Amino acid sequence: MKRRPLIAGNWKMYKTKDDALAFIYAVNQEVPDKELVESVICAPAIFLRDLVKREGENVRIGAQNMHYAAEGAYTGEISAGMLKSYGVDYVVIGHSERRQYFGETDETVNLKLIAAVNQDITPIVCVGEPLEIREAGTTNTVVRKQIEKAYLNVTAQDALKTVVAYEPIWAIGTGVTATPEQANETIIEIRRVLEKLYGHDVADQVRILYGGSVNTKNVEALLATSDIDGALVGGASLDPNSFLTLVRAALNK
Ligand code: PGA
Repeated sequence: MKRRPLIAGNWKMYKTKDDALAFIYAVNQEVPDKELVESVICAPAIFLRDLVKREGENVRIGAQNMHYAAEGAYTGEISAGMLKSYGVDYVVIGHSERRQYFGETDETVNLKLIAAVNQDITPIVCVGEPLEIREAGTTNTVVRKQIEKAYLNVTAQDALKTVVAYEPIWAIGTGVTATPEQANETIIEIRRVLEKLYGHDVADQVRILYGGSVNTKNVEALLATSDIDGALVGGASLDPNSFLTLVRAALNK
């Protein structure tokens, strides 16, 4: 089974409106055909409407977070339905920065995953271990639990509509990338968990990205592995040329 590669930029809390628009104009005509590689920009919520309006044929726009409820008295929050109504196609869920600073838990990740899929938005479900866990040699146990909890009560049919991002916390924004072997090994373990939950065919189709200090220099080696299907990229996604280099590297996958 050939999984279509996916490169998703996570802009985090960077850029002004003008920067965001300049970026989208710069990459629109340049990114490869979306049938060959999916190019996604996950932007701050306030830019989403403008970016969706201007996205080219081959670029898709994602949010960086959402609430799991359909609606309600949740000041400051945005629902999956609201994102959908603006044409947003992806949403990052459970990023470690949200887990660390904003109280995201495995339980809310699970609820958000279900809410996103119900609105036909592709969730990019983030999991990953802190440095102590990597050093203690218990990464697989921790990541396995994160995946099992994220996919609780999720049907096989819905699991197929999700993307996983393995992002070791020690590699995010640090310049210390996991080696291709380390990343691939953990991603194979994630695929095993999905196989246990949903069987071989589903596990074989779900895209699993690597994230954590991916850049134009290390992307090819990461993508040359058996199970890494793309990347979730912070810092190196901010510059249009850097983003384009990453996306083009995925053409060789
Ligand atoms: P980084 O961020 O590429 O800047 O390490 C990755 C992420 O947080 O998704």
